[in-house]
Amino acid sequence: MSEAPPTPQFDQYGSTPGGSSKELVPNAEEAPVPRKKSNRKLLLLGGLAAVIVVFLAVFLPIYFTIIRKKDGSSSGNSGSSSDGDSSGGDSDDSGSSATPTPTPTKGPTSGGDGSIITMVDGTTFTYKNAFGGHWVHDSEDPYKLDAQANEWSPPLNQSWDWVRNRIYGVNIGGLFVLEPFISPAIFQKYPGTRDEWDLSEAIMAANGNLDELEEHYRTFYVEKDIAEIAGAGLNWIRLPIGWWAFEVAEDEPFLQGKSWNYFLQIVEWARKYGLRVLVDLHAVPGSQNGLNHSGRFGHGVNWMAGTQGIYNAERTIYYLRILTQFLSQPQYKEVIKAIGLVNEPRAATLGHDPLASFNLRAYNVLREVTGFGEGNGPYIAIQEGMRPMSIWADDLPGADRVIVDGHSYFVFNGANTARIDAAAVDGLPGGTWPAQACRAWGPEYNASRNNFGPSIGGEFSAAPNDCALFINGVGSGSDHPQCAEYQDWENYTTGMKEGIKNYVLASFDSFGDWFFWTWKIGPSSAGRVEAPLWSYSLGLANGWMPTDPREATGKCLAMGVTRVEWDGTFEPARTGGVPTPTIPASYTAQYPWPPASISDVAGAPSSLPRFTEPVPALTLPPFTSATPTATST
Ligand SMILES: *[C@@H]1O[C@H](CO)[C@@H](O)[C@H](O)[C@H]1NC(C)=O
Ligand SMILES: *[C@@H]1O[C@H](CO)[C@@H](O)[C@H](O)[C@H]1NC(C)=O
Ligand SMILES: *[C@@H]1O[C@H](CO)[C@@H](O)[C@H](O)[C@H]1NC(C)=O
Ligand SMILES: *[C@@H]1O[C@H](CO)[C@@H](O)[C@H](O)[C@H]1NC(C)=O
Repeated sequence: MSEAPPTPQFDQYGSTPGGSSKELVPNAEEAPVPRKKSNRKLLLLGGLAAVIVVFLAVFLPIYFTIIRKKDGSSSGNSGSSSDGDSSGGDSDDSGSSATPTPTPTKGPTSGGDGSIITMVDGTTFTYKNAFGGHWVHDSEDPYKLDAQANEWSPPLNQSWDWVRNRIYGVNIGGLFVLEPFISPAIFQKYPGTRDEWDLSEAIMAANGNLDELEEHYRTFYVEKDIAEIAGAGLNWIRLPIGWWAFEVAEDEPFLQGKSWNYFLQIVEWARKYGLRVLVDLHAVPGSQNGLNHSGRFGHGVNWMAGTQGIYNAERTIYYLRILTQFLSQPQYKEVIKAIGLVNEPRAATLGHDPLASFNLRAYNVLREVTGFGEGNGPYIAIQEGMRPMSIWADDLPGADRVIVDGHSYFVFNGANTARIDAAAVDGLPGGTWPAQACRAWGPEYNASRNNFGPSIGGEFSAAPNDCALFINGVGSGSDHPQCAEYQDWENYTTGMKEGIKNYVLASFDSFGDWFFWTWKIGPSSAGRVEAPLWSYSLGLANGWMPTDPREATGKCLAMGVTRVEWDGTFEPARTGGVPTPTIPASYTAQYPWPPASISDVAGAPSSLPRFTEPVPALTLPPFTSATPTATST
């Protein structure tokens, strides 16, 4: 990578949020850095996007108010007939996004349990929701917020109450940041690949293009999946995305930009089915943890560490800023309610203090974009970094709308062979697992709420062990003695299914607000799911996931573990109740940007390469539905 001159180029952000957004315009005198495939291409892209934005701004209102009106019948609240446009946005033709073709007939614009949905490819499914949810999608009013996931969750047009409402969520793992254990078949097709970096290189070498990755985006999740998430009694999704959704540098083999529109498609489906979204920046330049789900495995941590560490962190903040600008727009801010800064930064290597500096820097930049207080852009989630949540308890004091995202697994803690079909304290199957979850996680999340503020279990699974294909990486199996039994999910006994379910219920109860990892595991090349306990949908279909997540309430109490249902209050700033929140000057002084030191760097980080934002900054295009979705795999 080329090295930018070591001049501090981010001073214009200052550390006092709330300033004029004009200050965000980067200093133009430094030639923009990045090791882009081609800066000219990016400028063209930006120019093109600007033209499209202007076109849409002018054309769409005309289209919606005049052209579509001619289509006749609009509203309808029918239980069962077809939805004429499942795209969630403007056009639903497969041609150019710039020439929407009105659909000849317009179906109902909302429906409840039993209504029939027609997907973009013409296939239909029945929307099933036993919990009083209803979908809403009106192509004449595409940003409507009337959908409701279920009767106990507020519709999108009402605010989310972080004290009284509970997040029952699921991750959309492995869709835009691929992982061998989530979509094994595509990795098996290219032997030797073990992360998306390798996979992208192998696909490009074999085909001369990366279309196969776009095919994955198009087919791994379809509208039916998002409808089923709402039908499962869930109300939020956590949606991981990699930086290559925005752009890539010259030496980065990822598919550039393509996932963005598919990302927006998921968001529009979330809107349609009443689900709120936490967007999670799952992979950042340089790798924040050296793991395959950061995009690149085994090349160390070059983000907030090493000579490119500050450069990569500033490049990350730039992407977070343009993403936040996009999703703070009125049409998105009530659907995308939170943004995760960086998934699982390796805090043990990076250290708390440099990460605290990064979090403060990102917070200031993002809040300068959004302003303060409820309704002004997303909540900001900081991930616990694979360390106890307590290490963040004193961070960002007084900051506006910040949450901690904890990831809780026993899987990677060594083999435990306690039988899950044995009786637990309450006489039901589960063995020692439910109580272990309640004891380990209940107090941790309770304390995080008391000491920091809103806290979520952003990732966990139903797996008590590492018996799953590729969970330890491609080429590494498990030597756990119960793997034959755990892998044979088609033949689980009733006791096994009930035991797993009780372990999951105890996990739900411990977290309070949670996102299971993940909704779906794709088949391996053998044609079957080989990481069964990581798939919410597989467990629902086969009886080991709870059909009603509310069953979890009181599970830990039944385990004889102190009731963990949290009933405190949050500091008002944490839930947007302070119009001009301030972070104490002493805290800002303690965590300067760049930090006083970072890992793997001998001297002062202030002399390291810095990232200069390009001028103009990248513009993220609006949703176009020119990507018809094929049948789910
Ligand atoms: C919000 O959505 C509900 C349906 O979920 C609808 O009944 C209500 O009128 C909407 N409220 C507003 C203010 O639009
Ligand atoms: C949760 O926090 C409350 C309030 O501080 C405390 O009273 C309660 O004992 C805690 N519960 C657990 C299980 O830690
Ligand atoms: C890939 O990621 C998994 C999950 O984090 C990890 O356990 C494994 O070691 C990684 N390695 C490889 C080679 O894929
Ligand atoms: C499940 O059990 C049946 C016999 O009961 C066996 O034929 C089948 O192979 C088993 N499934 C798997 C995936 O092992």
